[in-house]
Amino acid sequence: MNELINKLEKNHKLSPQEWKRLIERDFPLEDLFQKANHVRHEIYGNDVYIRGLIEISSYCKNDCYYCGIRCGNQNAERYRLSKEQILECCETGEALGFRTFVLQGGEDPFFTRERVTDIVSEIKKRYPECAVTLSLGERDFETYREWFEAGADRYLLRHETADRKHYEKLHPPQMSFEHRMQCLRNLKKIGYQVGCGFMVESPGQTTETLAKDMQLITELRPEMVGIGPFIPHQDTKFKEESPGSLEKTLKLLALIRLAHPHVLLPATTALGTIHPQGRELGLKAGANVVMPNLSPKDVRKKYSLYDNKICTGEEAAECIRCLKLRVENAGYKIVEDRGDYK
Ligand code: SAM
Ligand code: FES
Repeated sequence: MNELINKLEKNHKLSPQEWKRLIERDFPLEDLFQKANHVRHEIYGNDVYIRGLIEISSYCKNDCYYCGIRCGNQNAERYRLSKEQILECCETGEALGFRTFVLQGGEDPFFTRERVTDIVSEIKKRYPECAVTLSLGERDFETYREWFEAGADRYLLRHETADRKHYEKLHPPQMSFEHRMQCLRNLKKIGYQVGCGFMVESPGQTTETLAKDMQLITELRPEMVGIGPFIPHQDTKFKEESPGSLEKTLKLLALIRLAHPHVLLPATTALGTIHPQGRELGLKAGANVVMPNLSPKDVRKKYSLYDNKICTGEEAAECIRCLKLRVENAGYKIVEDRGDYK
């Protein structure tokens, strides 16, 4: 395995067969983690970037089979934040040292092109030194362009899986693999810093589908990659499935860092949910971003993508205090910085 890891470190790409071998074989992971950590240190040092996550809506018109806020879930509690509430979250976040705000939500038709343009423009007017990231699902080219022109800097759209058949297992027939991929290409073309990503050990995922995910990353070269374990939600058809494992997620984080050294790579909330030290271990395996929650406390439980999500009971200030300690104890430092792609 050392040979393959060295090759990946040197060339930043592998053949599909090589990816498969690296992903399926069990081998001690300590060396791999150390290498990934070293690569990340060379580029980003000890710095950890924070992104203030504002979950603007739990309404969604899609019915992704794995997701707790899919439209078919009658038990999901729905809410949407007003422009004023979103701006209040930014105000709190700015005072706490956040220089990136991530507006994420289900694909909620209420958040039209015009409404989001208005909100993004206002955030950028009030906080010109801050980056705005959007994560609002699939929209048409013109909408993405208008949001970019209003000042949005980055867009997160996980591709979920780079294998069409697997995509169709995870999504209803109304959703299209091609369209999701096209959206990612459009976002790149417009000039966003783009994030793709996937869930680790989602139902139906295989070594082959993962090899395709890794190839997509080495071809698309997105500025960000978001991966976290799949975690079942009680109101979905995948409720009996097992969650993705810590070990597999850490291994994939480290491989992504070696394949794409400059990538902005979060240690996700889902990783912190499956293991109490998940995010710290993620940083040690090559991640360099954390995304604490800035949503108002009273809506947090309603943005329930998966069961037992952490950090749903704390205020933003408590969350960031706790994370700062965790990050420092792991040997890193949270910085007040936009944290752009280097
Ligand atoms: N609607 C936007 C979109 O589709 O990109 C953004 C919100 S969506 C809820 C954000 C991400 O949550 C998805 O891309 C998916 O990977 C992740 N997610 C959803 N359900 C999950 C689950 N059960 N376990 C882990 N992650 C999940
Ligand atoms: Fe739309 Fe999950 S199904 S956000």
